[in-house]
Amino acid sequence: MTLYRARVLDTPDDPFTGGVLRSDEDAGLLVLDGTITERGDFTAVRARHPDAEVVDLRSGVLLPGLVDTHVHYPQVRVIGALGMPLLEWLERCALPEECRLADVDYARAVAFEFVGGLVAAGTTTALVFGSHFAPAVDALFEEVARVGLRVTAGLVVSDRGLPEPLLTDADRAYDDAVALAARWHGVGRARYAVTPRFSYSASDDVLDACAAVLKDVPGSWFTSHVNENPAEVAEVTRLFGGAEHYVGTYDRHGLVGESSVLAHNVHPTDEELAVLGGRRASVAHCPSSNSALGSGLFPLRRHVDHDVRVALGSDVGAGTGFSLFKEGLQAYFMQSLLGPDGLPLTPTHLLHLATRAGALALGLGDEVGDLGAGRSFDAVWVRPLADDPLDVGLRHAASSGDALARIFTLGGESDVAGVWVAGDRLKTPRVSR
Ligand code: GUN
Ligand code: ZN
Repeated sequence: MTLYRARVLDTPDDPFTGGVLRSDEDAGLLVLDGTITERGDFTAVRARHPDAEVVDLRSGVLLPGLVDTHVHYPQVRVIGALGMPLLEWLERCALPEECRLADVDYARAVAFEFVGGLVAAGTTTALVFGSHFAPAVDALFEEVARVGLRVTAGLVVSDRGLPEPLLTDADRAYDDAVALAARWHGVGRARYAVTPRFSYSASDDVLDACAAVLKDVPGSWFTSHVNENPAEVAEVTRLFGGAEHYVGTYDRHGLVGESSVLAHNVHPTDEELAVLGGRRASVAHCPSSNSALGSGLFPLRRHVDHDVRVALGSDVGAGTGFSLFKEGLQAYFMQSLLGPDGLPLTPTHLLHLATRAGALALGLGDEVGDLGAGRSFDAVWVRPLADDPLDVGLRHAASSGDALARIFTLGGESDVAGVWVAGDRLKTPRVSR
């Protein structure tokens, strides 16, 4: 039994529908077998459990572990290639690198770097775009299991429009996915995600095979890309005969539902938003990627107005790093740049988008996303070095919301001093350096 003592901030209630920041200046979180069994004022919890080992985290701020709903494992080595729009960046930068994961030793090295990147950023749960090569996906799941992260991931499938080594066909897409799911789905903290790259590169046959996997692997998740860039949207419309909108290319195969997360959706029609909202599907908002590729300004207000669930994704490697603090800040920037069309975001919104909203999008709301009793102890301890600007900012913050604003503005990997998943403390670079 462990009793964590900390300043705890979390967002159990959705601020987009009136929820407020939950802030406990001196909280006690009692953790038994990885689960928070009690939360309250430290002194009161301590009095009830005088024998519990106390871990004193008061020199920082404890937040729920961050949840990244869209991040590409094979792209960790290509972060930072600026100056290209989506299709050119894929062709010149991302896809040549993804071809290298055909070599499983190369893939293992990339998996090590990728998983290390997530942990260092304080991400405890992620929906990960895998590789086009099944052995490379095994390498990812092996590394995730070794480290202890909570990851949903799968084989990326495509049968057109990409370099030949990345292509498969519908039968192989089904067989490889089912075999991978048999090895990993529900094993430890891993789950399987059915992952056509985007309907630009996946024909109706492959999307049908994806629907069959989703049906045959109960509890599996679905993820892909949608409406990211105008040239991509135009090509998808052409490929599908002009009769279908982009969301419809997935929806007509039954791939849009509560267990679907579609990344980007920068250029949706109202009709598409109505489908996404009606089906309870989620959108992964990836602001730094949208800026880096010049994809556009995310219409968050229209998503909220259509009841579409939204969470944050880093979209590494088009995204500019693993930190969801940076993505939160960028999301805030985007909404402020949209002027009257934007949805002004508070620090509480940002924390919710980076934690609880992600947990809900991944169907893990009963387990993670906040630090209330009954949840798994998945947490990130933000503790800047002394006199670092964030340390100064936290000392001078006027309120909890203000402290949170400082974390999203100034926080990054170097401030992540501790990461726990289900009560297990993961090794973070800062601590082991
Ligand atoms: N659309 C299809 N593949 C990708 C990818 O790797 N990154 C992004 N941002 N969009 C995509
Ligand atoms: Zn992506």
